[in-house]
Amino acid sequence: MTTTPLRVAVTGAAGQIGYSLLPRIANGEMFGPDQPIILQLIEIPVDKALAALDGVAMELSDCAFPLLQDITCTADVKTGFDGAHWALLVGSKPRGPGMERGDLIRENGPIFTGQGRAINDCADDSVRVAVVGNPCNTNCLIAMHSAPDVPDERFSAMTRLDQNRAQNQLAAKAGVPSTSVTGTLIWGNHSATQVPDFHNARINGERADTVIDDQWLQGEFFATVQQRGAAIIKARGLSSAASAASSLVDHVSDLVKPTAGGEWRSVCVKSDGSYGVPEGLISSFPVSVGADGDWSITQGLELTPFLQERLTATGAELSGEREMVADLLG
Ligand code: NAD
Ligand code: LMR
Repeated sequence: MTTTPLRVAVTGAAGQIGYSLLPRIANGEMFGPDQPIILQLIEIPVDKALAALDGVAMELSDCAFPLLQDITCTADVKTGFDGAHWALLVGSKPRGPGMERGDLIRENGPIFTGQGRAINDCADDSVRVAVVGNPCNTNCLIAMHSAPDVPDERFSAMTRLDQNRAQNQLAAKAGVPSTSVTGTLIWGNHSATQVPDFHNARINGERADTVIDDQWLQGEFFATVQQRGAAIIKARGLSSAASAASSLVDHVSDLVKPTAGGEWRSVCVKSDGSYGVPEGLISSFPVSVGADGDWSITQGLELTPFLQERLTATGAELSGEREMVADLLG
């Protein structure tokens, strides 16, 4: 029996993240070792970008990946999203030193109206969308509003990189391997107001805040995770790329693989008002995935007053971003 190939559309495919991401999709890390892939790579209609995209496609072909059945390179979004089962929206401007991700909102936001419409009109009926381009929560909101025929629950944005960062910080502080840290969770916006949850994360099965002191958790831990993207830009002169690509592999795998009982993953999805996050915003929540592939926001997690206060603040920031792009929300 042959497996139908999965059409994966990737925007910004000639960029930094694209370069680290595409081989990992093509070699089966994102969708599994038996799933053939067709890559539909989308760039801006600028000679330099399209030439670079051709180079990326040549390199992918040169890898002779057994699962990679075809590659399309295009600057036309309708061609790019045609029949796509997954749309990975990476293409957009990264921030530079001294900027916040939200400063990109008026420049990058409009990209997601046209892409949302093209996904609505041209993608496969089952399409799922993952947004990485910053500010990713609000860009995802814009894309979702621009694609009224695609169910809202098919849209997500990425805080898996922040989750991975938090897990690594907790493991290093406790002096344990990262696999000993479970339940790591990010709430809210992928921004400097994000909330890395140290109460529901566990270290060797114990709540992190019973293993590590509050002063470090509320101080250095919080600041390090919230500012990690800026620290990488300062060090590299460019924003994170390999870790972002790796986390996108995790993000999509998280959404296609069922969670074990009681497990969750950080995913930015549309708020239904859970945990007091204003309805309709795209916010990071604990998400569980069922055997049928449907996801739900994990209910009943306890938050300390410190974490609850910060969750309210990050929700207010997301509400402010929504107001800033009200004209793009149709
Ligand atoms: P990059 O500048 O290296 O590449 C971006 C690519 O997107 C470029 O090739 C550019 O030509 C292309 N592009 C721009 N507008 C486009 C459009 N309308 N359609 C198609 N392609 C378009 O940037 P990068 O390092 O790959 O980062 C991409 C985005 O991802 C940035 O916004 C960055 O801030 C964001 N990012 C998010 C996370 C996260 O955790 N959510 C992590 C890292 C980076
Ligand atoms: C990150 O978290 O590394 C990305 O969102 C890039 C950035 O601007 O910080």
